[in-house]
Amino acid sequence: MSLRLGDVAPDFTAQSTEGTINFHEFLGDSWGVLFSHPADYTPVCTTELGAVAKLREEFAKRNVKVIALSVDGLESHKGWIGDINETQNTTVNFPIIADEDKKVSALYDMIHPNANESFTVRSVFVIGPDKKIKLTITYPASTGRNFDELLRVIDSLQLTANYSVATPANWKEGEEVVVAPAIKTEDIPARFPKGHRVIKPYLRMTPQPNK
Ligand code: BEZ
Repeated sequence: MSLRLGDVAPDFTAQSTEGTINFHEFLGDSWGVLFSHPADYTPVCTTELGAVAKLREEFAKRNVKVIALSVDGLESHKGWIGDINETQNTTVNFPIIADEDKKVSALYDMIHPNANESFTVRSVFVIGPDKKIKLTITYPASTGRNFDELLRVIDSLQLTANYSVATPANWKEGEEVVVAPAIKTEDIPARFPKGHRVIKPYLRMTPQPNK
């Protein structure tokens, strides 16, 4: 059965370009992003891993550890990293799991046989410090991911983990947020002293509380 939001992210030990990794130990108290790509030495994947490497500081600011995966082997990964660094003008700064036996891909249901029998699709799992899955996204091989969107979602996940708010459509860091339905309108001033707007009894907006 596929993994669902709120499930504990399965633990595993695997070979990676930065040595043997135990996933839960690697995550420690951080947030995590585990993402798969179909194959090494392919054009879209090359741009994706370069894009993630360039976002190193953005992930670090959010206390997020990143780890990639494909079913290619360690030597292939190591050679390809040279190409990524060269062509994308960056330095890959996160481990890439060599999942040749497809153990981790199977645990995370990253191979979708009706799309491709042998290669992982572009899966993304965001994992919280409690090791639970907070977000899953799946893209096909033909579409490179939008990693700015991934950062935006992480901002929302981290905000809503700490405050009784939700984020509206297309929300970005710093914009107004929605007061959680569980909060009574009369309790909003005490909970959200920066102010609020009642648009409908069920639609109450407030400035982002941690800004
Ligand atoms: C790519 O990364 O370019 C790619 C990988 C597998 C299928 C199609 C494209």
